[in-house]
Amino acid sequence: MINFLLSVRALINSVTYRFILKPVIFLWKPEIAHNKLKAFGKIMSANSFGRSVLKFLFYYQHKSLHTVVDGISYSNPIGLSAGFDKDGELTDAYPAMGFGFAELGSFTGEICPGNPGVGRRLFRMPKSKSILVWYGLNNQGAIAISKSLKDKKFTIPIGVSAAKSNLTAKFVLANSIADYLKTLQAFTGIGDYFTINISCPNTQDSEPFIDKNNLDALLSAISKVREKNRPIYIKLAADLSEAEIDIIVDACLEHKMDGVVLTNLAKPEFNQEYIKEELTFHKGAMSGLPLQRIATNVVRHVYRRSQGKLTIIGVGGVFNADDAYEKITSGANLVELITGMIFDGPQVIGEINRGLVELLKKDGFNSIEQAVGSRNPLF
Ligand SMILES: Cc1cc2nc3c(=O)[nH]c(=O)nc-3n(C[C@H](O)[C@H](O)[C@H](O)COP(=O)(O)O)c2cc1C
Repeated sequence: MINFLLSVRALINSVTYRFILKPVIFLWKPEIAHNKLKAFGKIMSANSFGRSVLKFLFYYQHKSLHTVVDGISYSNPIGLSAGFDKDGELTDAYPAMGFGFAELGSFTGEICPGNPGVGRRLFRMPKSKSILVWYGLNNQGAIAISKSLKDKKFTIPIGVSAAKSNLTAKFVLANSIADYLKTLQAFTGIGDYFTINISCPNTQDSEPFIDKNNLDALLSAISKVREKNRPIYIKLAADLSEAEIDIIVDACLEHKMDGVVLTNLAKPEFNQEYIKEELTFHKGAMSGLPLQRIATNVVRHVYRRSQGKLTIIGVGGVFNADDAYEKITSGANLVELITGMIFDGPQVIGEINRGLVELLKKDGFNSIEQAVGSRNPLF
């Protein structure tokens, strides 16, 4: 009976989003729409009535979805990926919407306006089910954001994504490392895990931490200041060669990082999985469906390369339970998304979780842990 009611709720939500809300939201320019949705989410989650409405519409939990990763307890494995909440403003909304965790940021050491063209740094590619992103790490900076979050009581695990400020094209290793450390220090005691984003495709100095020496220097510096019992994950780009991935994975193991986030956005020049006519702006990188297969393949490869020793957060083109389950059975411990929620509506979070319960049951698993890597066996 309860499942029937949940199916009816999902159907009403999905039809309302597809035929009423999305056509209105998609009338606005994407960056404007992003800002309006965040403003609406802030209003909705500011008081208990609004949060109850969100919960009534979207919330779903089931005991088989509970999972513990690196000592952190997650009520379900579906989280918000970095980049939706760049200033950490909506932490009260995510638990009510049914997310198991949320990764905030990316935050940078300095205040970062992002790339030029404010209001025109996102492009929808609806047929490709993708968003072309050219933000360039706009955020209010780690100091101000950490101050605004320091007294918050989070009810789900919170990831803090740290990136290097995108203010100059000149790469200076020591300054870049100091920039990351500034964010880690500002967020000491705030949130549950850190992600080190070395893979933003939209920065002026490119991705200098693919280089082994630079990466070693960064990870050594992080190791010296890291908090006890706080996992650190490294976020990789989508378009690396296997050799480049292996260097990063081996460095993560060597420096005792806890895991990896796989992956960041896909650059169109390395990707054929989108409809060419939709690419009207020739900078930036793509989220969503064009990234799905590539990111899952990276999950598969890294799970094997690390022999399951690194935690994997799988992200890229997750629209439904099958997509999430594919990441998990390929080796991901947790899954994140943004684009699925934008294209199909926020009810996808609960629906993915509800579908995961069924998929686990079908495969005879009692927990997410049992499913991790089950279709990518190590032995
Ligand atoms: C609008 C937008 C902004 C993003 N900004 C960031 C960011 O600041 N840091 C980061 O690590 N990833 C960022 N990403 C990448 C996402 O975290 C994620 O890796 C990617 O979108 C793939 O997931 P999806 O297909 O579910 O959207 C951004 C993605 C989008 C759509």
